[in-house]
Amino acid sequence: MSLSRRRLLGGLSAAGAAAVVGVPLLSGVRGASSTGELLPSRIALPRPFTLPFRVPPVLAPVRSDASGDHYRVTQRAALVEILPGVRTQIWGYEGLFPGPTIRSVRGRRTVVTHRNELPVPVVVHLHGGHTPAGQDGFPTDLLYPVGRPGEHAHMDGAMTHGSRDYVYPMTQPAATLWYHDHRMDFTGPAVWRGLAGFHLVSDPAEDALGLPSGDRDLPIMIADRSFDADGSLRYPSLDPTLTHTPGVHDPYGSGVLGDVILVNGVPWPVADVRAARHRLRLLNASNARRYRLTLDPPGALVQIGADGGLLESPIVHDAVEIAPAQRFDVVVDFGRYRPGDVVTLRNAYGDRTTTPVMRFRIGPAGPDTSRVPDRLAPSPAPAAPVTVTRDLRFRHGKVHGMPGWTINGQAFDPAVAAADPRLGDTEIWRLSSDFHHPIHLHLASFRVLSRGIGGPGAYDHGPKDTVDLRPAEQASILVRFTDHPGRYVFHCHNLEHEDMGMMGVVTVRP
Ligand code: C2O
Ligand code: CU
Ligand code: CU
Repeated sequence: MSLSRRRLLGGLSAAGAAAVVGVPLLSGVRGASSTGELLPSRIALPRPFTLPFRVPPVLAPVRSDASGDHYRVTQRAALVEILPGVRTQIWGYEGLFPGPTIRSVRGRRTVVTHRNELPVPVVVHLHGGHTPAGQDGFPTDLLYPVGRPGEHAHMDGAMTHGSRDYVYPMTQPAATLWYHDHRMDFTGPAVWRGLAGFHLVSDPAEDALGLPSGDRDLPIMIADRSFDADGSLRYPSLDPTLTHTPGVHDPYGSGVLGDVILVNGVPWPVADVRAARHRLRLLNASNARRYRLTLDPPGALVQIGADGGLLESPIVHDAVEIAPAQRFDVVVDFGRYRPGDVVTLRNAYGDRTTTPVMRFRIGPAGPDTSRVPDRLAPSPAPAAPVTVTRDLRFRHGKVHGMPGWTINGQAFDPAVAAADPRLGDTEIWRLSSDFHHPIHLHLASFRVLSRGIGGPGAYDHGPKDTVDLRPAEQASILVRFTDHPGRYVFHCHNLEHEDMGMMGVVTVRP
């Protein structure tokens, strides 16, 4: 156990162990669609479908040359208007929530210089990135604030002050990635405050497919949040300064669920779209909430991609179930509706305020030369023989004497490897759960082989980096770590579970 963690948890128990993680059996867990507790807003909320949809701005490179594209991002607090007429302080990349979208082209190195003007250390992780270990955002590789040196070199991570470069080789196929904060013990509240943005990768093979593009390629970040009476984002942190004591008040240790659905930072927005095919890059950036997304009136959501990139061929869904951190790339043909129609994206797992998500207002039809070909991507190469099978159990349990979340009974320890695969080997990981646990692996996309006694589920197809385990479920995934040896993590992407222990180190051996 690292010094710091011992110190942090020591502080935690002093603060009152009983108030830390509610045993999540009490309400709304068994049989519910998400593991977590609703944190109600204390301010009047706008009516759904009254605010305009917007697409996060695309970040322009500060420099592009033979070595790649260079970007600069400052992380800072900002006052923004999320609820009409109300000022809300967020923490944002460039002061924005969502952060600006970064667009990379496969094979072109992308360098992002992050400058930390927040009051706490940060860690930037490119979720879904095939990234060398030192650039991946290990939870103790802290970037300290500008002008505020860290107290001392604590933990066993790297440490930088003010700003640093994250260098991404981008040797990966076209995919919808996202970047977000990943600091040990404080990822949940930092992401809740706004530290999340899209990072889209394109490649010539995808460009050649003729999928809807340009203003008909819409990134859609769905995130639930709650607001306090003064307009601030409400979150049950034990330590609202996010510096010393990790964790949340009882009973939110099972996950924090908001009652406002934000799409690209706007509550229940309405988008004006042409009556033509659109590509919707759905990302669930919620801390704990799962969604079952449908169109009303009913319509097909044609899935073309998953977390790690394109499917081999499209899959037609009438609903898409999306767990935290997952991405579903879908094409919707609004040309099937008449100009003037409205089409609502709904969450069948919601209740009152969390059922509506956003609305599309259908405008005039225009020329639409886009298409969804039957073949989208080559089939994955046949798997090499499996060398190792690992069993990983994701459970509620004691974390240094207090209720928390564990993997094989152990809480996260940055100094101990929970798995040590060899570079290039093919492994099977058998994952099992007690509650909902969206399990995410850094570095490698994987394939879901089975769920329970059956094959992959309807939402398990294609290259994944996060598998949606439901209560008392088992899933097997086929994993292969390539190119980059070193120290990474895998974890539950219910961010309250992650912060309260449910993370493990993967040391990829050369
Ligand atoms: Cu989305 Cu380890 O992260
Ligand atoms: Cu990740
Ligand atoms: Cu979990």
